[in-house]
Amino acid sequence: SAAEKGGWSSFMAKEVSEEPEAVANTVRGRIHEGRVEIPELDGMDEFLADIDRILVIACGTAAYAGMVGKYALETWTRVPVDVELAHEFRYRDPVLSPRTLVVSISQSGETMDTLMAVKYARSRGAKTLSICNTQGATIPRESDAIVYTHAGPEVAVASTKAFVAQITALYLLALHVGRVRGAIDPVAAVDAVTELEAIPGKIARVLETEQGRIEQLAHWMADTRSVLFLGRNVGYPIALEGALKLKELAYIHAEGFAAGELKHGPIALIEPGQPVFVVVPSPRGSGEMHKKVVSNIEEIRARGARVIAIAEEGDVAVLPAADEVLRIPLAAPLFEPLLAVVPLHIFAMGLAEAKGLDVDQPRNLAKSVTVE
Ligand code: G6P
Repeated sequence: SAAEKGGWSSFMAKEVSEEPEAVANTVRGRIHEGRVEIPELDGMDEFLADIDRILVIACGTAAYAGMVGKYALETWTRVPVDVELAHEFRYRDPVLSPRTLVVSISQSGETMDTLMAVKYARSRGAKTLSICNTQGATIPRESDAIVYTHAGPEVAVASTKAFVAQITALYLLALHVGRVRGAIDPVAAVDAVTELEAIPGKIARVLETEQGRIEQLAHWMADTRSVLFLGRNVGYPIALEGALKLKELAYIHAEGFAAGELKHGPIALIEPGQPVFVVVPSPRGSGEMHKKVVSNIEEIRARGARVIAIAEEGDVAVLPAADEVLRIPLAAPLFEPLLAVVPLHIFAMGLAEAKGLDVDQPRNLAKSVTVE
């Protein structure tokens, strides 16, 4: 009902506006004296100190959160991480051991493929940890440990605020495990905590400064038939998420690519007028990576692409190359996905609205897929 939407045009509009709180609420209670300590993982130190592999399993948007999490988990824990779609994981003969930590991610906690993968991993001797947004759901009940995301109930079929909460939970997990293992430099840990605490305010700023512009852009693009998304490093899963949301909500053909793959295929798709979103890594991270992505933009622009760059404030290198620049506040490079995804959520929603579609209940999709 209109009252439940609290004045918003859709549940999704409300839920996107709640992305800052979703992050803040997931962090709350898990930082003690400047260090990440997840109370739910009390008593697991010995196991966590001894793991030799982390395997993340999920479906849909949650799997993209897992892909983002891999970068942080490997950086801060120094444990090798694989991310797999739950339905792909199950039907092979995966290598698991008692030193494998299997992390499942699920907003609903009821996705059948993810549940079956968790049960399978457990039966094969791995320890399972559930990152879940729904208290008491089946997947957390079937897992050895639970880290809840506190994004609040999510009603719109396509996941938005739960996605940023999932990334946040993975970062907290990475910082917790990194500390337990002595793998993370204490100064880096303090910096990461400071950054995590600043993210809600930065997401709020993206919503304040960019939402109107992005909605207008979406309106202008209402007739678009195909959109490409490029990203590199942590921006790569964000490109995949941007494409998924556009397919789900606006029924537009969309594909996400790793920017480095451009010359291995996707560049053949570029023709005059082709819209391409590019998630630009911060020049303050790897300057080399930033340069490469800017040169990707120049290459596709030279072939007539319409480039919409998502770049941090003050990055002037993108200006001559891009047609539109959507700005995100400065953040440490690992944290950029939490900001860069916001314009893409707004864009997909705006374009679906411009086409007069029901953004909360896209055709053929279910909030939680409880069949295999
Ligand atoms: C469905 C939803 C997606 C969601 C996926 C995984 O496909 O439409 O938004 O990402 O399921 O759901 P889960 O509840 O396991 O996160």
